[in-house]
Amino acid sequence: MDKLKVMSVFGTRPEAIKMAPVVQALENNVKIQSIVCTTAQHRQMLDQVLELFKITPNYDLNIMKNNQDLWTLTSDILLNMKNIFEKAKPDIILVHGDTTTASATALSAFYAKIPIGHVEAGLRTFNKFYPFPEEINRVIVDAVSSLYFAPTKNSVQNLVKSGIKNEDNIILTGNTVIDALLYTVNNHETNLDQLNLNPNLKTILITSHRRENLGKPLEEICKAIIELVKQNKNIQIIYPVHLNPNVRQTVFSILKNKERIILTDPLEYAPFATLMKKADIILTDSGGIQEEAPSLGKPVLVLRDETERPEALEYGTVKLVGTNKEKIIDTINHLLNSKEEYNKMATAINPYGDGLASQRIVDAILKHFNK
Ligand code: UD1
Ligand code: UDP
Repeated sequence: MDKLKVMSVFGTRPEAIKMAPVVQALENNVKIQSIVCTTAQHRQMLDQVLELFKITPNYDLNIMKNNQDLWTLTSDILLNMKNIFEKAKPDIILVHGDTTTASATALSAFYAKIPIGHVEAGLRTFNKFYPFPEEINRVIVDAVSSLYFAPTKNSVQNLVKSGIKNEDNIILTGNTVIDALLYTVNNHETNLDQLNLNPNLKTILITSHRRENLGKPLEEICKAIIELVKQNKNIQIIYPVHLNPNVRQTVFSILKNKERIILTDPLEYAPFATLMKKADIILTDSGGIQEEAPSLGKPVLVLRDETERPEALEYGTVKLVGTNKEKIIDTINHLLNSKEEYNKMATAINPYGDGLASQRIVDAILKHFNK
C-alpha cells in the first residue's frame, strides 16, 4: 500500500514547538511518509527547537532576512512553496496557527489544489488589526483548509459559526503545545545556573514581541518594569528578549544594566520551560505562553487588550492587563502583596489539552483518507 505523504510546514519558534510532537507522531506511523519543510521565517529561534526535538527538515527555504517586512515574507514563501510542492507531491499539507508562514503556505497549497490541514484552527478575536497580522492569517488559513484541528470547544464553535459546511472535518484535538510541554518538562528539565537568578528573590518572567506592541506600548511595559523593581526590593525580573531588532532596540535602551533586571537572548525551549515552572508571575503577550503557563499553575498577566484564548481567562488564571504602565504596576503589586489573590490565580488547570492532541491529528488524517 502506498504511504500517505503528509507534509508539515512551519517557520517560526512557536510553530516549530507546536508542530514538533505532530511530526513525531507522523514519523511513528507506518502508513505515513512524513515530509518536513521549514520556511525558516525565524532562523536561530527555529534551529533551537529543531535540535531539541531532533527534527531534520527535508526542505529548508532559509528565507529569513534581518527586519523583514510582511510583503517580502509573503511573496518569498508563496513562490518558493510552489516549487517544493512540485518536487514533493504531498497528499496533504499541515500548517500551524497564524503566522505568515502559515497563511502564505496555505494560499500556495490552495493554488496547487493540495488539501490543507490547519493545526490550531478556529482562534479568533474578530478584530482584524488585533493581533496584527495574525487574525487575518488565521482567517485566510481556515478559508482554504479541508481539515480543521481545533484546540478547544470555543475554537470549534468559531469554525462552525464561520459556516464550514462539513462539520465532520472539524476535529476537537486539544492544543499540541501541551504535548510539547509535557515531553519537554518530563525529559529535559534543565539547570538554570547560567541565568544567575537570586534564589532569595521572587521571579517575574517577561516576554513581549507582538507587532502591535512595538514602539510606545513596549516602552510603557519597560517603564512599568523599572518602577516595579524600584518599589519591590524582593523581586527580580528575567526577560528573554526576542530577536526582532524592533523589540531589542526598545528593551535594551530602557532596561539594560539595571539592578535586579536580567536580560537574556531567547532561551532554548527546555530551559525556558524550566524557567516558567520556577517563576512566580509571568507577564507576556505571547500566545503559546498563555496556553502553557496555566498547566504549570502560574499566574499570567497578558500584555494585550484582547485575546483569542479566552479559556484560561474564564478559569481566572490569566488576566488581561494591556500595556498601560499604571495598570501593569498596580496588578503586579496586588499579586505580590495579596496571598489570597495570588493563590486564586496560581491554580493548575489545563483547558488547552491533555498531551494527546498530536495523535488525534494523525488519526483524523488517516480516517479522512480512508487509510
Ligand atoms: C513572528 C510571527 C508572529 C509570531 C512570532 C513568534 C508573522 C508576521 N509574525 O513574529 O505571528 O507570534 O513570530 O515569535 O508571521 N529574528 C532573528 N532570528 C530569529 C527570529 C527573528 O534575527 O530566529 C529577527 C529578524 O531580524 C526578523 C525579525 O526578527 O526579520 C522579525 O521576524 P518575523 O518572523 O518577521 O516577526 P516576529 O515578530 O518574530
Ligand atoms: N519560548 C522559548 N524561549 C523563550 C521564550 C519563549 O522557547 O525565550 C517558547 C514558549 O514556551 C512558547 C513559545 O516559545 O512555547 C512561544 O513563542 P512566541 O512567544 O515567540 O510566539 P507566540 O506564542 O506569541 O506565537
